[in-house]
Amino acid sequence: MAASPFEVLQKVPLLASIPSAELAPLAQLTRERRYAKGSMILMQGEPGDALYLIADGQVKVVLVGEDGREVILSVLGPGSFFGEMSLLDDEPRSAHVVAMSETLLLQLRREDFQARLRNSPEVAIGLMRELSRRLRRADDTIGSLALRDVHGRIAHLLLAMAEEEDGRQITRRLTHATLAQMIGASRETVSRAMRTLVTTGVIKVSRKDITLLQPDALRAIVDRG
Ligand code: CMP
Repeated sequence: MAASPFEVLQKVPLLASIPSAELAPLAQLTRERRYAKGSMILMQGEPGDALYLIADGQVKVVLVGEDGREVILSVLGPGSFFGEMSLLDDEPRSAHVVAMSETLLLQLRREDFQARLRNSPEVAIGLMRELSRRLRRADDTIGSLALRDVHGRIAHLLLAMAEEEDGRQITRRLTHATLAQMIGASRETVSRAMRTLVTTGVIKVSRKDITLLQPDALRAIVDRG
């Protein structure tokens, strides 16, 4: 059976400080939204009127160039949130957000999100912590794009994604095309580099996940590249 909005909110780290008695009324303010794989959830440049919490599925935050090329800024999964930036600074949506799989979201209207921030300093602090983490990652990516070659960028990305899990495993479903769009390289270059990492025993790739067999070897590539 699908989780209720209350059960979904219980698993959102941003809301962990809210007592259950207050979480139930908050859950009632949300609306469920379902998106098919590939559908556009938010459009860059449009005004923002809601925050979204991911109940199930995976989304990508993307910028699209005039020639149609995509840069992926982030991939977000269950328990994460997006759409907060427009609500905080009253600017248009900063990027497109697209469903990478069938995705179930809980939508919270601007007024309800802002009221919650005013009433819960812990939630406001949690939000700042997450924004700081995202800025740190963005800084890291800018450094990687400017300072590393493609091998260094791939090694850095694999280590960063594994770090978000147990340090060794990446269970997110990511195609070579997606990896390429995350590091500003061609799909072919990424496939070649991944093949080399597999044949040299640095990583193991299965249909379900990527395992870092030799994280130190990846660190050495990052330091070199
Ligand atoms: P908003 O600008 O309202 O709409 C697009 C959303 O994408 C934005 O809010 C954030 O939630 C999310 N987003 C934008 N840039 C990043 C990033 N670098 N990392 C993670 N999420 C982002």
